Amino acid sequence: MNNSQKDWFTDWFNTKYYHILYKNRDDSDAQLFMRNITDFLKLPLTTHILDLPCGKGRHAVFLNKLGYKVTGGDLSKNSIQSAKKFENDSLHFKVHDMRKPFRQNYDAIFNLFTSFGYFDDDKEDVLILDNIKQGLNKDGYFVFDFMNVLKVKNNLVEKEVKEIDGISFNIQREIVDGFIQKHISFNADNEDHSYTERVKYLESEKLISYFKEVGFSIEHIFGDYDLSSFTNNSNRLILVAK
Ligand SMILES: C[S@@+](CC[C@H](N)C(=O)[O-])C[C@H]1O[C@@H](n2cnc3c(N)ncnc32)[C@H](O)[C@@H]1O
Repeated sequence: MNNSQKDWFTDWFNTKYYHILYKNRDDSDAQLFMRNITDFLKLPLTTHILDLPCGKGRHAVFLNKLGYKVTGGDLSKNSIQSAKKFENDSLHFKVHDMRKPFRQNYDAIFNLFTSFGYFDDDKEDVLILDNIKQGLNKDGYFVFDFMNVLKVKNNLVEKEVKEIDGISFNIQREIVDGFIQKHISFNADNEDHSYTERVKYLESEKLISYFKEVGFSIEHIFGDYDLSSFTNNSNRLILVAK
């Protein structure tokens, strides 16, 4: 992919409207997940965790509160600027494109809340996993939290209007050409806006084959933030690899 072209994820995630639309996402679930997974993996407090991509840092800040040294990276300059207000001696944020290799290694890398599958070419998805594999210290864990596409397909809400902060977001969803697409249109600040989120329809078998391609071994598969087992009806698909 030509990195200079404007990709949907560069644009949309960098807007204030993305954060307004998703402001109601459940942070208590995210915190419960971070507590559960760090306990389950018995991650010592000396672990340096990379949260990639971190958005405005909701997981990174909480992991740091739990006592970990945390670095958050994200492509969105606006999100990193906002996250930087939480920085301290053991919490840092930087702009980073996950298609690029890292300058240093980490003890654990977390990719959370469907932050994968944005690219047309499968090679780019594999490249991201390869960068993560190369960026892990020996025996380091990779925690990957994706949607369960089977559940999304079976429960697809094709049309919906969400009223948030005085904005009417018109949302249309479809599965087309191997992507789950969410078309979002609204009027805000006296302008019409429209964006399309495009995330690859990736079933567990395909994801696991990507992981194996870069040399990861899958240690655990969970279906939700409470670390319940994965089934076709699970809310999430969570892979833990080494
Ligand atoms: C669905 S959000 C999740 C963010 C965060 N993990 C959370 O739970 O709030 C996906 C994030 O991926 C970031 N992103 C998209 N493409 C990226 C890339 N190539 N490199 C790094 N970050 C990227 C976006 O800026 C956005 O913050």
